[in-house]
Amino acid sequence: MADKGPFARPRILMVSSEASPWAKSGGLADVLGALPPALARLGHAVGVVLPRYMGARSAPARRVIDSVIIGLGSRLFDVSVWEMESGGVRMFFVDEPSLYERDGLYGGPTGDFSDNHIRFALLSKAAIEISRRLFRADVFHCHDWQASLVPVYLREWPAIDPQLLGARTVLTIHNLGYQGIFDAPALRDISLPQRLFTPAALEFWGRINLLKGGIVFSDALTTVSRKYAEEIQTAEYGFGLDGLLRSRSGALTGILNGADYSRWDPEFDPLIPARYSAENLAGKAECKRALLAEAGLPEAAQERPLMGIVSRFTSQKGFDLIADAAWQIFEDDVYLVALGNGEPAWEDLFRNLQQAFPGKVSVTFGYNEAMSHRIEAGADMFLMPSRYEPCGLNQIYSLRYGTPPVVRATGGLDDTIDETTGFKFSDYNGTALLEAIRAACRKWEDHAGWRKMMVTGMRRDFSWTASATEYSRLYDALHPAGA
Ligand code: ADP
Ligand code: GLC
Repeated sequence: MADKGPFARPRILMVSSEASPWAKSGGLADVLGALPPALARLGHAVGVVLPRYMGARSAPARRVIDSVIIGLGSRLFDVSVWEMESGGVRMFFVDEPSLYERDGLYGGPTGDFSDNHIRFALLSKAAIEISRRLFRADVFHCHDWQASLVPVYLREWPAIDPQLLGARTVLTIHNLGYQGIFDAPALRDISLPQRLFTPAALEFWGRINLLKGGIVFSDALTTVSRKYAEEIQTAEYGFGLDGLLRSRSGALTGILNGADYSRWDPEFDPLIPARYSAENLAGKAECKRALLAEAGLPEAAQERPLMGIVSRFTSQKGFDLIADAAWQIFEDDVYLVALGNGEPAWEDLFRNLQQAFPGKVSVTFGYNEAMSHRIEAGADMFLMPSRYEPCGLNQIYSLRYGTPPVVRATGGLDDTIDETTGFKFSDYNGTALLEAIRAACRKWEDHAGWRKMMVTGMRRDFSWTASATEYSRLYDALHPAGA
């Protein structure tokens, strides 16, 4: 077959509720910040559709659609679209202040916004309009439940525009724990017919499940590690969708996330107090000293193992294991610096740990990008005892920062860490975590062995190019070049 050149490659329109640096609550944003430019470098034309949240209003974008009327249920929304270029990618911001101009991406202090189904249905419909008017998509690449209605709408209205008939859809599941489940009447609010209220489509135990719609109607499904692609087909990790996922296993693949080393590399990181690399580790001790001071931990801890955590505080992340084993963990001379925020019960746990082990545990509550880099650099080891972890990015960053991770062998944690780069445990209990932490501390005492482990991890390469190439192959298979 003749090479049709880079311009024949499928045109990809990503639809997502997060993308760095404009909207971030977790790793999804990191992926949407880095994968699109990596695909553009491979020769794809790439666009990203994102709500114009409060935090995105300062983006240097210009208005490219003044007004398009989008109907949903009984409401008409007068939407405008803003566009900017970034790293070879066209960013489209969907503007509808009544839905997006709020504090918080998904909710406020009292919980999730009650109209989230409408907010993200509008995003999905707007993405289809953007494809019709501004950026013809060969493949719509949808992320998580918030974009899961794109394939549903495309199937429901194949005739709205002949141009859309050839479009293919990919759904990436970043986290099966969030499915976008709403009461049955919500179906009307998002303009879908009652006929889809069946177990073969969006119905889920008497309610509607938007992610389920995406899983049923997308041409291809991916998730963010090979191990997680297997796990979600089991009852233990399937959140009630394992049967459906097994029935679609032929369409499901796992593609590991990458790391954006232009932002996460201690050799060049402007957010850490001293630079270092596998060749010259000296700066890491300075990073540790500065972190201990910032966290208010004793200077003497410089000579002892310092563990780090940067995380959303939710049940996914396995912090109940730390609670289980806390007395034994901290009866040893080890220290912990944690940064995070999230659900009140888990924030309380960290507040209690800090009170129970003063001078050993220091917790900073909130979201702080710069501090997350300082913890990666300043800690000796990084803790991720997750109950489940689709991919996980912090353990990948930790490797590059010479901060061997202690992880539970699940999902992407299992796929990215081995015994030469970190510590893994399998059983979900405090004793297993304690043993892994103790093994890490013993290794830390063996300076030469520890240094070898640090350097081995620092030299691992999880850059986006390899993952982007896998996505590119998937798009090519769905939508052969020039077809
Ligand atoms: P998840 O997406 O489940 O939260 P990941 O490990 O994939 O987990 O990604 C988490 C991302 O969010 C990382 O970039 C991490 O540094 C960042 N992050 C999480 N919590 C915080 C916080 N409190 N402050 C700064 N960054 C955070
Ligand atoms: C989700 C997962 C996390 C993954 C991220 C990006 O938030 O919890 O494991 O790394 O998405 O794919």
